[in-house]
Amino acid sequence: MKKILITGGMGYIGSHTVVELIDRGNDVFIVDNLSNSSLEVINRIEKITSKKPAFKVIDCCKFDEFEQVFKDNKFDAVIHFAGLKAVGESVEKPLLYFENNLVSTFNLVKLMEKYNVNNLVFSSSATVYGKPESVPIYEDFPLHVTNPYGRTKLMIEDILRDYSKVHPKFNVALLRYFNPIGAHPSGLIGEDPNGIPNNLMPYITQVAIGKLPCLNVFGDDYKTKDGTGVRDYIHVVDLAIGHVLTLDKLYKNPGLVTYNLGTGNGYSVLEVVKAMSVATGKDIPYIIKPRRAGDIDECYANCDKAKKEIGFKAKYGLKEMCRDSWNWQLNNPNGYR
Ligand code: NAD
Ligand code: UFG
Repeated sequence: MKKILITGGMGYIGSHTVVELIDRGNDVFIVDNLSNSSLEVINRIEKITSKKPAFKVIDCCKFDEFEQVFKDNKFDAVIHFAGLKAVGESVEKPLLYFENNLVSTFNLVKLMEKYNVNNLVFSSSATVYGKPESVPIYEDFPLHVTNPYGRTKLMIEDILRDYSKVHPKFNVALLRYFNPIGAHPSGLIGEDPNGIPNNLMPYITQVAIGKLPCLNVFGDDYKTKDGTGVRDYIHVVDLAIGHVLTLDKLYKNPGLVTYNLGTGNGYSVLEVVKAMSVATGKDIPYIIKPRRAGDIDECYANCDKAKKEIGFKAKYGLKEMCRDSWNWQLNNPNGYR
C-alpha cells in the first residue's frame, strides 16, 4: 500500500483522483485550504469509497503548517493539484496567482527534498501550448502562454525541469490536462464553481436546470468545423485514472516525464450544446456573442505518448461526459451547498 499526499484534493479533479486511488487500495492524505472547495467533499468521498481519507486544512503557502504534515507522515508520492485556476481572474490579479501557485510549489518541493519524498505529479495544463501552430498537439510542441495563470503553469514546469536535472532521484510527471468535464457516475462529486461559471460545461448545465437563461457562445467565426471553438473534452474520471497510471510509472524511476491527457477528439461548442440537449432532454438556448479575449480556434491532444508509456486511454465519450455532468447538476442543484 502506498501513502500519497494530495494537495488540492478537495477540488474537482483532486476529489475524483482521491476516489480512484482509494478504490485501488492506496492510503491518501489530503491537504487543501478550501479556497475553492467544500468540507462536504470528504463525506461524499466516504459515501463512494466507504473510506474517509485523512484531511487537514492547510495552506500550502504556509511553510510551517505544511511541514507538520511531512513530519507526521511518510509519503511515497505527492500529487499537486493545489492552485488557483481562473484565467480571467489571473489577468485581474496576477500577483495573487503568482504567489499562490508558485509559493505553494516551492514549499512543496523543498519539503519533498527535506523529507526524502521523490515522486511528484504536477497538474499542468494544455494552456502551456498557447495558440498551437497545428492540431493535434504533441508534447514537444513549443510552449508559450498568454495569461498569468498559464504563466504560473509554465514557470512551474520550467522550475521542475531545472530541479530534476540536478536531482536524479527525483521523479516528476508534468500532466497537461485538456478540458476536464463530467462527474463521478454516482452523482456525489463534481465540479462546483463559485458564482457564474467561466467554463462551458458548468455554464450549460446551469442553463439546462434553469439557473441561467441562455448560453453565450463566444464567437462563430473561428476556422473550425462550424465556426465555434473546438476543444478536447475529457471525462474527469478518465483524467483521474491517468494519475493512477502516472504514479505507477513514477515508481519505476523514470526521472522527468510529460504527458498530454485528453481524448484526442475535438468537439465544437455547438456539438457540445447538441450533445447536452440529448443528455438532458431539454433545449439549450444560446446566442452568438463576440469572441472571448485570449480564446483560440482549436485545441486537442495527441495522446499516443501517454498510451504507449503508461497505458492511458480515455474510455468515456462525449455522451457519457454529458450524462454525468447532468446527473451531478440534477442531484446537486446548488453544488455542495
Ligand atoms: P479546483 O479549484 O477545483 O481544485 C484546486 C484545489 O486547490 C481547491 O480545492 C482549492 O481550495 C485548493 N487550493 C488552492 N490553493 C491552495 C493552497 N495555496 N493551499 C492549499 N490548497 C489550495 O481545480 P481543479 O479543476 O480541480 O484543478 C486542479 C489543478 O488542475 C489546478 O492546479 C488547475 O490549475 C489544474 N488544471 C485544471 C484544469 C481544469 O479545466 N479544471 C485544466 C488544466 C489544469
Ligand atoms: N465557451 C463559450 N461560452 C461560455 C464558456 C465557454 O462559448 O460561456 C467556449 C469558449 O470560447 C471555448 C470553449 O467554450 O471555445 C471552451 O471554453 P472553456 O472556458 O470551457 O475552456 P477553455 O478551453 O477556454 O479553458 C480550459 C480551462 C483552462 C485551461 C484550458 C486548457 O479553463 O484553465 O482549458 O486545459 F488552461
